[in-house]
Order: sequence, then C-alpha cells, then structure tokens
Amino acid sequence: DMLFIAKCVLAYLLGSIPSGLIIGKLFFNTDVREFGSKNIGATNTYRVLGLKAALPVFFFDAFKGAVGVYLLASYGPAHMILGGILAMIGHNWPIFLGFKGGRGVATGLGVLIALSPLVAAICFAVWGVIVYFTKLVSLGSIAGATLVPILMYLTGESWWFIGFGFLAAAFVIGRHKDNIKRLLAGKELKVERVKGDE
Ligand code: G3P
Repeated sequence: DMLFIAKCVLAYLLGSIPSGLIIGKLFFNTDVREFGSKNIGATNTYRVLGLKAALPVFFFDAFKGAVGVYLLASYGPAHMILGGILAMIGHNWPIFLGFKGGRGVATGLGVLIALSPLVAAICFAVWGVIVYFTKLVSLGSIAGATLVPILMYLTGESWWFIGFGFLAAAFVIGRHKDNIKRLLAGKELKVERVKGDE
C-alpha cells in the first residue's frame, strides 16, 4: 500500500541525511570531506573537528538506523529489517550527495540496537576493544560487522536476522574497500586529530 511505500522512501531519505557534512559545515564551517579519510562519518569527523562534533554525528547516524527499523515495525520483523537496510543504503549511498556516502557503521549499529540489543552490545564491545588498542576504527568496524551474522546465529535469532547480518556486513565491509587496501599496505589512518583544535 501507499503508506508502506512512503515509509520505505522515508527510511531511505532519513538514512541519506549526511549529518557529518551538515554539522561540520553548519557549526564549524568545515567540509569534513576535505580532510583525513575524506569520509563523512563520526570517525573522520572526530579527526577533523574533535569529539564535540563527532559525538552528535555518531548519535544522529545511529538514530537514523534505529528509526528506519521502527518506521516499518508495525508490519513485522522482516519489515523491520527492510527499514534498517533502507536506512543503511541511504547512509552509504545518499541521494543528496550523488550517492557518495559513508560506511554504514554508526547507522548499522543503530539498526542493530533496534533489532537485537544483545548482539549490538557485543559488537560494540569488540569494536571498542580493537579501536582502543589499535586506534584503527576501520579494523574494529570490519571485525564488528563480521560478527553480526555469526552472533545472530549463536543467539538463536531467526533466519531473517541472520540474513540481515550477512547483508549489513556486506554493506559495511564493501564500503571499507579503500580502508582494507590501506590496512594491508600498513597505511591506514589512525583515529587521531588531523586538524588543530579550534
Ligand atoms: O566508521 C567508519 C570507520 O570504520 C572508518 O572511517 O574515516 O577511517 O574511513 P575512516
């Protein structure tokens, strides 16, 4: 029905809102795409503008994912997954930026929190440990994403949720193609400030 289609479009459009770009431009007069990894996510926003910009970006991007899930929740679990996937597609391939978006880590975490808080918590913990010790956010994100389908299976979730895990992991890891090349070459950017504090 029309309402369902409208909600799907809304989930995608909401996911498409590039919070890193908007917050950077609006409050710091800076385009985060010009510095660091050139990515629009919370990690690169931290590199360029620090925590006061990166935290709101992280929370807003995660929020987009959770809202995508809840938008379609009344239709059932499979549709919740669809809503989350649409938000992730929006974030990774946003209509507003010529389909050049982020990597879907924070948005994927938001989706995961809405689908399975337990799996979300384990993935976030693993991500946190890796980032703490290596300062390589991409490595933590790739590891966390890989765990999603495995943990969905181990925690007894439905095949829909396991399938979601595979698709979401593919989206996140696929968008880390350049990071993977840099990691293998030992040239990956750490999460540290690249611009001075202002
Ligand atoms: O959340 C994205 C992170 O995994 C990598 O970000 O800026 O280092 O490419 P970045």
